[in-house]
Amino acid sequence: MTEIVWITGASSGIGRALALNLAAAGKRVVASARRADALEALAREAGGSISVLPLDTTDAAACENAVAWIEAEMGPLALAILNAGTHVPTPASEFAVAPVRRLVETNLMGTVNCLAPALAAMRQRKHGHIALVASVAGYGGLPTASAYGATKAALINMCESLKPECEALGVKLQLVSPGFVRTPLTDKNPFPMPFLMDAADAAAEIARGLASDKFEIVFPRRFAIMLKVLNMLPYGLYFRLVRRATGT
Ligand SMILES: NC(=O)c1ccc[n+]([C@@H]2O[C@H](COP(=O)([O-])OP(=O)(O)OC[C@H]3O[C@@H](n4cnc5c(N)ncnc54)[C@H](OP(=O)(O)O)[C@@H]3O)[C@@H](O)[C@H]2O)c1
Repeated sequence: MTEIVWITGASSGIGRALALNLAAAGKRVVASARRADALEALAREAGGSISVLPLDTTDAAACENAVAWIEAEMGPLALAILNAGTHVPTPASEFAVAPVRRLVETNLMGTVNCLAPALAAMRQRKHGHIALVASVAGYGGLPTASAYGATKAALINMCESLKPECEALGVKLQLVSPGFVRTPLTDKNPFPMPFLMDAADAAAEIARGLASDKFEIVFPRRFAIMLKVLNMLPYGLYFRLVRRATGT
């Protein structure tokens, strides 16, 4: 039977490239995001193997209905890739409640709104696979990313917490930690982005990782290792290196 894969945030960037990659590999992809027109264009490009399911992931009831619709109309959900997210810089000079709330609602609660019904469906049949898209920005605090980084750190922690329990329930849980990928999200960045990758290459890395038993699908590896090491340093040294690297 063809595997049903649900991808949120599939209207652009990494999610779109991943939908095309997995559809080309023979999966039946259900693509979600808010912009129905962009999803329709994606489905046309894929030539019939992508179904469109417009959804705002900040609406918990809509996410529950989306999973119910997939299971009723398409078949058992084999893989949920919870990728929808956004970025708003939150520099200390403009720090305010509204942008932080928006990022928490989209990146953290939007993922939770999809995770809960997907996990419930998979738990019931003791079988399934879920991947949460976080970011290497969640490893440690970085200038102007106080809210974005906090939401991604929360996702990393949540994923680590759930991993052993999900395994016991028969559900494979993976964490996706991209570095910089060229998408509409990063096109707005006014700073140089080290090791910047194309979305299609990022999608290929994720597709390879999904087929493996690794907990964390992380790329580009050199950048991720640099950040992991940075986050093991004493704070004095950490802040000195962060200031030097970001010109803060
Ligand atoms: N690009 C990078 O360098 C990078 C690095 C690390 C992690 N990431 C993560 O990778 C994921 C994808 O990002 P991207 O770079 O591909 O950005 P993108 O091109 O801006 O794509 C973001 C996707 O999320 C969807 N989305 C946003 N808010 C939504 C909502 N409330 N409900 C449903 N869908 C929503 C957008 O679709 P609509 O606007 O149509 O809803 C879009 O499809 C994000 O979680 C991001 O944090 C990206």
